[in-house]
Amino acid sequence: MKTVQHLIARQENLAEISEEQLRALVKELLQANQDLQVLNGKLSDAQNKLMQSEKLASIGQLAAGVAHEINNPIGFIFSNFGTLEQYLDDVFQMLQAYEQAESSICDAAVLANIRRLREERDIAYLKEDIPSLMHESKDGIQRVRKIVQDLKDFSRVDARQEWESINLHQGIDSTLNIVNNEIKYKADVVKAYGVLPDVQCLPSEMNQVFLNLLVNAAHAITAERGTITIRTGVEGDNAWVEIEDNGAGITPENLQRIFDPFFTTKPVGKGTGLGLSLSYGIVQKHGGRISVRSEVGKGSCFRVSIPVHHQPQAQEPATS
Ligand SMILES: Nc1ncnc2c1ncn2[C@@H]1O[C@H](COP(=O)(O)OP(=O)(O)OP(=O)(O)O)[C@@H](O)[C@H]1O
Ligand SMILES: [Mg+2]
Repeated sequence: MKTVQHLIARQENLAEISEEQLRALVKELLQANQDLQVLNGKLSDAQNKLMQSEKLASIGQLAAGVAHEINNPIGFIFSNFGTLEQYLDDVFQMLQAYEQAESSICDAAVLANIRRLREERDIAYLKEDIPSLMHESKDGIQRVRKIVQDLKDFSRVDARQEWESINLHQGIDSTLNIVNNEIKYKADVVKAYGVLPDVQCLPSEMNQVFLNLLVNAAHAITAERGTITIRTGVEGDNAWVEIEDNGAGITPENLQRIFDPFFTTKPVGKGTGLGLSLSYGIVQKHGGRISVRSEVGKGSCFRVSIPVHHQPQAQEPATS
C-alpha cells in the first residue's frame, strides 16, 4: 500500500502517474482487496461460530434445566406409584375377604347398610376401573420419564461437549422424540436405518444438526400429510445420515443461499434462518460435509456425512 499512500499524499501529481506506476497501483489494490476478502471470510467464520455456540448453549441449558426440574418430582411420583399399587392390591384382597364374610352377618340392619353402600358407591365398577386408571397413569409417568431422559441425552449435560463414540441412531431417536410435536401432525417418519458403527462426534451438536434438518423437513410439508424418511449408512470412512421430505422443495436460486446465516423464507417469528448455517458449521467442525438435492414440488433430501473416527485438526483443542 506504500505506493498508493505515497501517490495520494502527493495529490497534485496524480495526473502525471506513469503507466508503470499505474500497474503497480492496480496490483497493490488487487492485493489489498484480496487481503480484505480473506479477513472478511475469517470474520464471518468467527461470527458463525459465536452464534452457533450461543444458540447451542442456550438450548442445551434450557433442556438441561427443564430435565433437572422435572426429574426429581417424577422420581418420587414413580416410586410412590409402585407402593400405591401394592397397597391397592392389599386393599382389594381385604375387600374380597369382607365380601366373602358378608353371608355370615346375622344383623339384617348391618347387612342392608353394607349392600346399600356397595350399590351407591358402585364398588363393582371401581374394582374394574381402579386398575385401568393405575395402568394409564403409570404409562403416562413412564412417558414423562422418557421425555426427561431424551432431554438429558439431547443436551448431554453430564457429558459436556466431549468427543465421544456414540450410536448415531440413538441420537436421532432422542431428537425425534424432542421434535415429535412439530412432526406428528404433519408427517409420518420412516426409518430406513442401515448398520452403523459407533461414530466419534460431539453428540449434542450432532443432535442439533438432526433437529434442524427434521424441523425444516416438517415445515416443508405443505400437503395434508407428508413423509420424512431417515436413512443411514456407511461409505468408506464416513457415516452418513439422509433426511428426506416430500415437501415443497427449494428453488435453484434459494438453494445457493440456504446455508447463509439469516437466510429464511419463513415468516417473521417462524424462522431465524440460522438452522442450516449452524448445522453447516457443526458438520464442518466434524470434518464432514452436508449436501442437498431438491426439486420444487417434489421435496428435498439433506445428506450429512462425517468421519467415523474424528481426526483432530491442527488448532483444535482436545475438547471444545
Ligand atoms: N427441507 C426443506 N425443504 C424446503 N426448504 C427448506 C428445507 N430446509 C431448509 N429450507 C429452506 O432453507 C431456509 C433456511 O433454513 P434454515 O434452517 O437455515 O432457517 P429457517 O428454518 O428458516 O429458520 P431456523 O433458524 O428456525 O432454522 C428455510 O427458510 C427454507 O426456505
Ligand atoms: Mg430451520
